[in-house]
Amino acid sequence: MKVLIATDKPFAPEATQKIQNIVETVGHTFEKLEKYTDKSQLLDVIKDANAVIIRSDIIDEEVMSNAPQLKVIVRAGAGYDNVDLKAATARGICVMNTPGQNANAVAELVFGMLIYQQRHGFDGSVGHEIRDRRLGLFAFGHVAKMVAKIARGFDMTVCSYSPILTHEDLRKEGELGVLPAYNAKDLFEKSDIVSLHMPLLDDTYHCVNYELLSLLPEDGILINSARKEVVNEDDLIRIMEERPKFQYITDVKPDKHDEFIARFPKCYFATPKKTGAQTSEANINAGLAAAQQIVDYFEKGDDRYRVNV
Ligand code: 3PG
Repeated sequence: MKVLIATDKPFAPEATQKIQNIVETVGHTFEKLEKYTDKSQLLDVIKDANAVIIRSDIIDEEVMSNAPQLKVIVRAGAGYDNVDLKAATARGICVMNTPGQNANAVAELVFGMLIYQQRHGFDGSVGHEIRDRRLGLFAFGHVAKMVAKIARGFDMTVCSYSPILTHEDLRKEGELGVLPAYNAKDLFEKSDIVSLHMPLLDDTYHCVNYELLSLLPEDGILINSARKEVVNEDDLIRIMEERPKFQYITDVKPDKHDEFIARFPKCYFATPKKTGAQTSEANINAGLAAAQQIVDYFEKGDDRYRVNV
């Protein structure tokens, strides 16, 4: 079987090497395409692949139709909104993700961005602390749980809202002292800072809107390490126009990035390129999990992390 890594944003070399070892040890062949600049390069290299490991790379109908041998796609990471699941199912392709493997990296970045912004980019001017501030977590998956854990060390008050809570989530909330919010409005009312951790789904598209944002305080902060599309950018711009102290901190650059920069230079921060999962540790965790999942899928039919039906 040919196992391909196709990543516009490459893994750390150590992770790539370890992925190659896992794949080759059991007799598969390995190929990689990194930093590609044109979709045609992906179309070319995927045409005889049986499995592919990707990150935020777009795998749509065109890519799949160009890969007749493709049996499994593993998104080394959490969100799989970049894969056309319906097209995969129609072609009998199994799509998996590697839940939790890069969660700590993203959670650490949430605090890195928050503190950087509260200290005005470390320019020496008087900033703010985050101790005692009320942090609201919108959704309570792997990243949110890590954020909650770190927030305890900062003496923040943490509450969370998730439309789906498992028994494990409830146990974790109790263990971490996270207060439950009853719905999204309740979460925003109870928070000074809201950090977004939901996947991009039909239900979450633009779910952070004017109504919710207006429930935060005048100097409220919205942090987005999830997906740009979950925020209604026009509504956010309206709030930031109305509230000169309101801040937007994001690892997923909005479509209206230039407008945010021009109009709210002090209250807006975006990483130049999505960097949450970009640590050597997260690359190794997610990349190796992806490689092992492929090996187990071919050897034992193990599809426990399958996300398409
Ligand atoms: C994820 O969904 O796992 C994160 O958004 C990380 O994405 P990346 O692998 O493209 O950095």
